[in-house]
Amino acid sequence: MGLRTVTATAIRWKTAGLAVIVAAIATAAQAQAPAPTPPPAPAPTPAPSVDLFDSGKLLATSGVSQIEGAAGGGLTPWALITGYETRDAIGANGHYTFVHTGSYTLHSAGASIGLFDRVELSYAREIFDTRKVGGKLGLGNGFTFNEDVFGAKLRVAGDAVYDQDTLMPQTAIGLQYKRNAQGAVIHAIGGKSAEGVDFYGTATKLFLDQSVLLNATVRATRANQLGILGFGGDRNSGYSAEFEGSAAYLLSRKTAIGFEYRTKPNNLRFAAENRWLDVFIAYFPTRNVSLTLAAVDLGDIALQRLCVAALLAAPSCAPVGETTLYADLGGEAGITRFVAETVAISVADPRIAKDFDNINLVWLRDHIVRQFCELTGGPCRYTGRGMYASHKGLHLATANFNFFVEDLQIAMDHAGVPFPTQNRLLKILAPMYHDIVTR
Ligand code: HEM
Repeated sequence: MGLRTVTATAIRWKTAGLAVIVAAIATAAQAQAPAPTPPPAPAPTPAPSVDLFDSGKLLATSGVSQIEGAAGGGLTPWALITGYETRDAIGANGHYTFVHTGSYTLHSAGASIGLFDRVELSYAREIFDTRKVGGKLGLGNGFTFNEDVFGAKLRVAGDAVYDQDTLMPQTAIGLQYKRNAQGAVIHAIGGKSAEGVDFYGTATKLFLDQSVLLNATVRATRANQLGILGFGGDRNSGYSAEFEGSAAYLLSRKTAIGFEYRTKPNNLRFAAENRWLDVFIAYFPTRNVSLTLAAVDLGDIALQRLCVAALLAAPSCAPVGETTLYADLGGEAGITRFVAETVAISVADPRIAKDFDNINLVWLRDHIVRQFCELTGGPCRYTGRGMYASHKGLHLATANFNFFVEDLQIAMDHAGVPFPTQNRLLKILAPMYHDIVTR
């Protein structure tokens, strides 16, 4: 009879500051020992039977399921192989993780198989629900980012439990192929791709005499917020090496406390991505069930600053928490609105109208929109010429510059941009004076 382990995790998670995590891990069924075979009296000794589902590991020595489906702590993969099988057997594990914050909800559900305590194959689906914040961001209430994570891990050397006579840890290498279903939104926020592969190496050591377990993982990744916000970005699109560490102290055979720390790349321009950390207590009453309670600090979830409303043609882009100037200007839709009007006012402004003779105004508008979008922290890329090169032929005087700025202010007034917000934009534009004015 096969071993089947089901893990259910409930986590309380706030994006800023410390939050409470409640985790419950349940194993549904355990291998049943085969009925003992009576030894045939004087006959030759039978070969010892091998139980392919032996469920023979020590309690808690397969860790729990991390959020991407691998065996480990809650946040980071460990070198341990999933399931309670020994090197003679096969084990399996299922998990469900629930993370709840004031703003967002994350579900992770999946399953993993451990083969002979050597190879681990895992799958997890992450569902990141923006709930009401999605509506405020223009994505729609309850907008979700869905991500599939397929993992493979190979134990390379060492044994975390048995190698107590040496400092050699148990080591493993692994990869996680991640595929996000929200490609359009990811590209809109500056992400380069909706899929990516993480590669990691990990080492786990149990210091039994100290009752301490230590784990270190190095991960090469392009993932933004684990891939929930895509892979690569407008700040950095290549791989970066990230560190993940865990330490656990065994209070008893069934109870452990510890903490985890995980650094992450910072690929997207519109918001910095922070490290994650947690402090946990895990309880393993049997091989079938465990419960974890944790406090987690996930730093600033970039999504709080996400303002794709404009890009999705939504009417508003309400700031949530700390926002960029781009968001405060109404995103690309807001910027387009007042830049288009600025151009319209300027070409009709007798003071500077002649400067725009024979100019393709749609082209000009689009270039200025993209420039403002990038300068204010939006996801766009400005690809036009520099300000000196593009204006030197116009021989503009200081007055021309100021008249254009006045027209811009009028257009921003009409668009309802608050005065302090207008001035934050003008502060960025003002130094361009030196390149634009050549007369
Ligand atoms: C802070 C002020 C200004 C900003 C941010 C700005 C921005 C820009 C940008 C982004 C372009 C496109 C450059 C390219 O892609 O090659 C451009 C071109 C242009 N700007 Fe400005 N501009 C400013 C002031 C002015 C003023 C004061 C005038 C005239 C009164 C003006 C008239 C033009 C014209 C006519 C072009 C097209 C030039 C060409 O294609 O040869 N701009 N500007």
